[in-house]
Amino acid sequence: YLVPNERTQPEFAEALRRAQETGVKILAYDCIVTPEKMQIDAPVPVRTGSLVELTNPLLAWYDKNRRILPWREDVTPYRVWVSEIMLQQTRVEAVKPYFARFMEKLPNIKALAEAQEETILKLWEGLGYYNRVRNMQKAAQVILQDYGGKMPDTYDKLQSLPGIGSYTAGAIASIAFGEPVPAVDGNVLRVMARLTEERGDISCQAVKKKLEEKVRCMIPRERAGDFTQAMIEVGALICVPNGAPRCSECPFEVNCKAHKEGKELEYPCKAPKNPRRIEKKTILVLMDENKVALHKRPEKGLLAGMYEFPMLEGYKKKKEVLDLLKESGLDSLRILSLCDAKHIFSHVEWHMKGYAVRVDELSEKKEKIAEKYDLVFVEPKEAGRRYPIPSAFSVYLKHLNILRESDKLKNEWEREH
Ligand code: ADE
Repeated sequence: YLVPNERTQPEFAEALRRAQETGVKILAYDCIVTPEKMQIDAPVPVRTGSLVELTNPLLAWYDKNRRILPWREDVTPYRVWVSEIMLQQTRVEAVKPYFARFMEKLPNIKALAEAQEETILKLWEGLGYYNRVRNMQKAAQVILQDYGGKMPDTYDKLQSLPGIGSYTAGAIASIAFGEPVPAVDGNVLRVMARLTEERGDISCQAVKKKLEEKVRCMIPRERAGDFTQAMIEVGALICVPNGAPRCSECPFEVNCKAHKEGKELEYPCKAPKNPRRIEKKTILVLMDENKVALHKRPEKGLLAGMYEFPMLEGYKKKKEVLDLLKESGLDSLRILSLCDAKHIFSHVEWHMKGYAVRVDELSEKKEKIAEKYDLVFVEPKEAGRRYPIPSAFSVYLKHLNILRESDKLKNEWEREH
């Protein structure tokens, strides 16, 4: 890497440091010089000063404190990819059983590319953001077609795949291929914003880019993957988002600008989010003697292609529900109020009222009704085993004692660990 010479050219070193700290990307190249010619070779990282000094203490801290995690012990590009996408959804502990099952059922890129859509949705059930796994499948298909089934091995090529942005590309390229590129997610942004007292809004692209460039100049060529994991680990274990950070255990303690001023909790700066839209829904758990009705959601939009209980917009009274069902050709024997439930998505909240309705002779009319309303009538056990059902309906699934595969997975994991 390039380190400006502080002794012979202090002004140049200072100018580079200031530029880099402001987020300017500085390019440097190896230069091969012979008596005959000078030839520009590969690009090299530029290390200008203060932040670079933190790389070795960070790695030493990581070597001592790192958690043993399945995707860290057996590192392949595919495993890193799957784990990183899952970790964007939820906590490490919650990811572990999902990761193990995904690897067992779809052990490689080809298996993912060729899987049925319902299989991948089922494997993702309970994690949320189902488009992420759909995009993974699309990317796997591109890898199969264009790269002979082998994960592309550079940051730039990775970013051209569906669902792989700069963070995921940086994580895969550095962890799986050792490329010295930054992987900056929300956790790393928080660490960097505190370390450098970044006053800009971290949801702003220019601020993200600036912090990404600062991270870039800290990456050691020989341990790029460990560096990425170490930054993530500091964000997860020390520089935590909720509650007091554990600064006395932090490898950056004496260099952290926010800590020096006791202002850790004032960073990162973020503009307040728009409030979520609230949507009122009425959920219908329609049962005949043996079967329950599930509705397949449209192929586009929120929870696309997932299965749900039939749902009406707004809150409906019992009488309104019964009238609507009658209009659709269903005679109801009983209706029972269920409890209310709430589910929070990123931009919307569903506030739900539920009814259990026992309908008569569903079996006779069900084919017609199913076709008209996009419903399937299934045994409750079968519903949990085969159909991907989002967690928004957990409360109502419990009413029927429906255990989804994802609920079983979590229960088993909790029993074993
Ligand atoms: N969060 C995001 N990426 C992670 C990783 N590789 N290990 C642990 N937690 C993470």
